[in-house]
Amino acid sequence: FTTLLGIRLIVNFDSLLQGWVRSIRSQKSNLFLHLNDGSSLQSLQVVASPELNDPSLTFGSAVEVTGVLKKSPHRNQPVELEADQIHVVGECNPVDFPFKTKERHSLEYIRQFPHLRCRTNAFSSLLRVRSEATTAIHSYFKENGFVQIHTPVITSNDCEGAGELFQVEPSSAEVEEGENFFSVPAYLTVSGQLHLEVMSGAFSRVYTFGPTFRAENSQSRRHLAEFHMVEAEVSFTESLEDLTKVMEDMFRSATEHVLAHCAEDVDLFHKHVTPGHRPNVEDILNRSSQKFAFPTHWGCDLQTEHEKYLVKHCGNIPVFVTDYPYDLKPFYARDNKDHPRHSAAAVDLLVPGVGELCGGSLREERLDLLRARLEEVGLEDTYSWYLDLRRFGSVPHGGFGLGFERYLQCILGVDSIKDVIPFPRFSHSCPL
Ligand code: 4AD
Repeated sequence: FTTLLGIRLIVNFDSLLQGWVRSIRSQKSNLFLHLNDGSSLQSLQVVASPELNDPSLTFGSAVEVTGVLKKSPHRNQPVELEADQIHVVGECNPVDFPFKTKERHSLEYIRQFPHLRCRTNAFSSLLRVRSEATTAIHSYFKENGFVQIHTPVITSNDCEGAGELFQVEPSSAEVEEGENFFSVPAYLTVSGQLHLEVMSGAFSRVYTFGPTFRAENSQSRRHLAEFHMVEAEVSFTESLEDLTKVMEDMFRSATEHVLAHCAEDVDLFHKHVTPGHRPNVEDILNRSSQKFAFPTHWGCDLQTEHEKYLVKHCGNIPVFVTDYPYDLKPFYARDNKDHPRHSAAAVDLLVPGVGELCGGSLREERLDLLRARLEEVGLEDTYSWYLDLRRFGSVPHGGFGLGFERYLQCILGVDSIKDVIPFPRFSHSCPL
């Protein structure tokens, strides 16, 4: 029945169904219920005698139904359950319950109820897509010879050097006053990149996929304080093309998997981006006649308005932007061979509706140049272990990070990043 129905309501040999009531309709001769257990968007119709009706049987209540599974007379539901018994496991007061049957609640409205919003069709669809996309990304890396590394959540490095760190402090008096638990300042990770680089010196292709933290005081629709990043590091490469190929293949393969496995859930949303062509963009902004709030010049960083313009200019498809000003990039980025110390061998992937989805670069593998760069920023002692990586069996390598929530926003066309994560954390908001 699983295949036939396209859902996985628990139907064992006694035909026991467990789920939540999504709709209830009482007629003279029959009582109709629709039950859903979260495994798909589909609900299974239960047909019962009106005598089995009970005042506690309401929209949202949790029930167990036993009965006989029968062929349904309706075309769009191959089977239905003829109920012998209905047991209300958990009541749901319809007056207080924030969601109403047959009403379409906006994502913004349901966001007010972080503990209950998974009971709605829209949010449960989103979370199923999220789960399937997670599987797809792991499958992509497994099939392409990457080793998964669990990079630490607590770290003493600020990989990006952007100062967006959450510091970790024990709340109890476990350590003497004035002492630090780790004996060094420790933070929640802003990126697993440096730990991946360690591992790329032994396994040539590695990746990590986990929670990442940035103390960005932003309420924007594409920033969170806690988000999930997919990061990959590839050894024995001196070409940005190798990295953009992995980014593009991963995007393509994950999106195809999601569309194949969650078509119905995806259809509930407006759109998905078909992975498109891959132009490299240079100087488009400077040639544009568009007036930007932040005028562009060599050395400035791209703002959201520039990212939007570039994506639109290229026909609303994913776009790679390469060769960023060298001084804009963190100490680990390598310069371009053709333009030493001028432009970095760095790439961002911009996507419609979201802007920056991925950021990556080739890493500086030459010991003397890396040491000089670290000295410039006063970090040579902090990163002596990082210099060691270049001392012992170093190889040219590079990698990238993809914001997983932004990826979901992109393929589903969801406006706010807060609606594609089970429990969003952002400034002034950490409700449960
Ligand atoms: O461009 P970022 O800062 O790159 C890095 O952290 C590299 N060390 C990754 C690497 O090379 N291994 O971040 C990567 C991506 C961004 O493109 C964006 O999609 C996402 O992470 N991101 C955020 N997503 C949600 N909320 C935030 N506050 C984010 N900051 C970055």
